[in-house]
Amino acid sequence: MESEKSNYGAIMVYFTKPSWAFLVLLFTVIAILSLQISPKAIILPFPLFPVPGSSELDFESDFDPGSCVATFGEFPERKHVMSLKDFGGVGDGKTSNTAAFRKALDYMQRFSEKGGAQLNVPQGKWLTGSFNLTSNFTLFLEQGAVILGSQDPEEWPIVEPLPSYGRGRERLGGRHISLIHGDGLTNVVITGNNGTIDGQGRIWWELWWNRTLNHTRGHLVELMNSRNILISNLTFRNSPFWTIHPVYCSNVVVKGMTILAPLSAPNTDGIDPDSSTNVCIEDCYIESGDDLVAIKSGWDQYGIKMARPSSNIKVRRISGTTPTCSGVGIGSEMSGGIFNVTIENMHVWNSAAGVRIKTDKGRGGYIANITIRNIMMERVKIPIRLSRGSNDHPDDRWDPKAIPKIRGIFISNIVSLNSTKAPVLAGIRGASFEGLCFKNVTLLGLSPNAAWHCEFVSGCTNAVFPLPCPHLQNNGSSTCCS
Ligand SMILES: *[C@@H]1O[C@H](CO)[C@@H](O)[C@H](O)[C@H]1NC(C)=O
Ligand SMILES: *[C@@H]1O[C@H](CO)[C@@H](O)[C@H](O)[C@H]1NC(C)=O
Ligand SMILES: *[C@@H]1O[C@H](CO)[C@@H](O)[C@H](O)[C@H]1NC(C)=O
Ligand SMILES: *[C@@H]1O[C@H](CO)[C@@H](O)[C@H](O)[C@H]1NC(C)=O
Ligand SMILES: *[C@@H]1O[C@H](CO)[C@@H](O)[C@H](O)[C@H]1NC(C)=O
Ligand SMILES: *[C@@H]1O[C@H](CO)[C@@H](O)[C@H](O)[C@H]1NC(C)=O
Ligand SMILES: *[C@@H]1O[C@H](CO)[C@@H](O)[C@H](O)[C@H]1NC(C)=O
Ligand SMILES: *[C@@H]1O[C@H](CO)[C@@H](O)[C@H](O)[C@H]1NC(C)=O
Ligand SMILES: *[C@@H]1O[C@H](CO)[C@@H](O)[C@H](O)[C@H]1NC(C)=O
Ligand SMILES: *[C@@H]1O[C@H](CO)[C@@H](O)[C@H](O)[C@H]1NC(C)=O
Ligand SMILES: *[C@@H]1O[C@H](CO)[C@@H](O)[C@H](O)[C@H]1NC(C)=O
Repeated sequence: MESEKSNYGAIMVYFTKPSWAFLVLLFTVIAILSLQISPKAIILPFPLFPVPGSSELDFESDFDPGSCVATFGEFPERKHVMSLKDFGGVGDGKTSNTAAFRKALDYMQRFSEKGGAQLNVPQGKWLTGSFNLTSNFTLFLEQGAVILGSQDPEEWPIVEPLPSYGRGRERLGGRHISLIHGDGLTNVVITGNNGTIDGQGRIWWELWWNRTLNHTRGHLVELMNSRNILISNLTFRNSPFWTIHPVYCSNVVVKGMTILAPLSAPNTDGIDPDSSTNVCIEDCYIESGDDLVAIKSGWDQYGIKMARPSSNIKVRRISGTTPTCSGVGIGSEMSGGIFNVTIENMHVWNSAAGVRIKTDKGRGGYIANITIRNIMMERVKIPIRLSRGSNDHPDDRWDPKAIPKIRGIFISNIVSLNSTKAPVLAGIRGASFEGLCFKNVTLLGLSPNAAWHCEFVSGCTNAVFPLPCPHLQNNGSSTCCS
């Protein structure tokens, strides 16, 4: 057992720093040795097993509820480390490195089962078309490293649409692949000393603006059907479309990222977990032309059919601005269901909405058990907005009887300064949004006649200012909103 030998090194490290963690480790090692089972079979905080290359990032443990990465552990060390220069890369900002990246990945994938590999991108400007990652792999951008997305659309080839969308999100048929892509991978890290991945998305925004886009725009980074993913400590800029898109994934951490796009750049969402579970997003600064974080799960009949929810999602310590969209959005594509989401300690300013839940007839699915707390908003037009979306559907085969169910939305400890409107809560006729709870919500600086707007909603409030609409008045019930 190769991994046992490597565990020995880890044990020696822990010997020098005895602690409760050491005791846990000791017990575990005894358990492993006596049961002769692989350490991976045991759910443990990852740092106890920094086995080079084979380290499974482990989400299940409750090691430190304050940090995603404590639950995931340290970086997996990779046995084989190479530089893009080893594959003929040229970092002058002009020479194409598409072949160099593809050659590197093609070569390094042979190490996925042999201790893993890390590709270092040195300081410089590395122009490239799309390339695919591999398993047990780290893409590491050194300080001053900038990966530039190719300006040639052919370098972003067309791939199949996502089954839960049934077509490209913007155009029928296939869609452009993301700049950095992965499908069916495990244990992937994209990190570095605040290097940059710049999608140079302007050409794509212009194609969108001037209505000459043939296929849906590509993401900056998309991982599909993958698990154990860490994206950290980098700056992502100018994505053509949504910036980070994990779809059909589990165990995803996004931490310490700066995500930037011009405030007018269309659909440049920051981070969009989509039909994914166990996702933890924290400590990011995001400013862009669309939602900072948007949680999704497929579109109308295609999403209903696939039935892949987004669940067990934590979002915390995110700050930023988006003038036309929201701090955090849930939906509007939510047809596979969205549940067990916690959003906390967020700071949003100069935005259209702070918290936005969007859905529509035809979506089906559900949004349930969402906790949103400790949010600070400044000059956000509508601080809390639950509503129908823009009624966009993939095609005319959507089912008007597919009514989404919205139930159990807990919103507390909100301070909003200088909003123009009070909360807008608009459910769907015949399918009210139920179990809405607002607790300790203070909206200051509103005009004196600003009032909550409510229709087809029910729920409770406790300590909210200004006075809520009658739909949400508890009328003396003390169990409401508890
Ligand atoms: C990743 O590494 C682990 C541990 O070495 C190995 O068991 C697994 O098969 C590797 N995954 C792939 C897809 O190669
Ligand atoms: C990357 O993977 C996609 C499918 O996930 C495939 O269509 C594409 O050809 C791959 N690109 C390269 C450069 O291998
Ligand atoms: C990373 O770079 C961005 C863009 O230059 C900068 O705004 C951010 O503060 C840097 N982050 C860290 C942790 O240095
Ligand atoms: C639309 O934008 C693209 C990308 O910038 C440009 O090449 C094209 O000429 C523009 N088309 C029109 C009709 O403006
Ligand atoms: C879109 O299609 C037209 C007509 O086939 C073609 O001339 C144009 O280059 C295409 N644009 C892109 C960005 O692929
Ligand atoms: C981010 O960078 C800091 C400073 O270099 C480092 O201590 C930390 O381990 C990194 N975290 C992640 C998750 O990449
Ligand atoms: C909700 O998600 C969190 C992770 O964000 C997880 O720890 C918790 O167990 C989940 N709760 C339920 C009831 O599944
Ligand atoms: C929401 O939470 C309630 C109470 O914990 C639980 O009974 C229900 O199954 C949950 N619903 C979903 C969709 O997670
Ligand atoms: C109400 O929310 C504010 C802002 O998050 C917080 O500072 C305060 O402690 C909360 N009050 C109570 C009673 O929870
Ligand atoms: C809110 O508006 C008042 C009056 O215009 C102004 O004095 C104050 O600085 C504003 N506060 C914020 C956080 O925008
Ligand atoms: C509370 O009372 C108001 C006014 O009488 C009524 O419109 C509202 O439906 C009641 N709310 C609940 C939750 O019963």
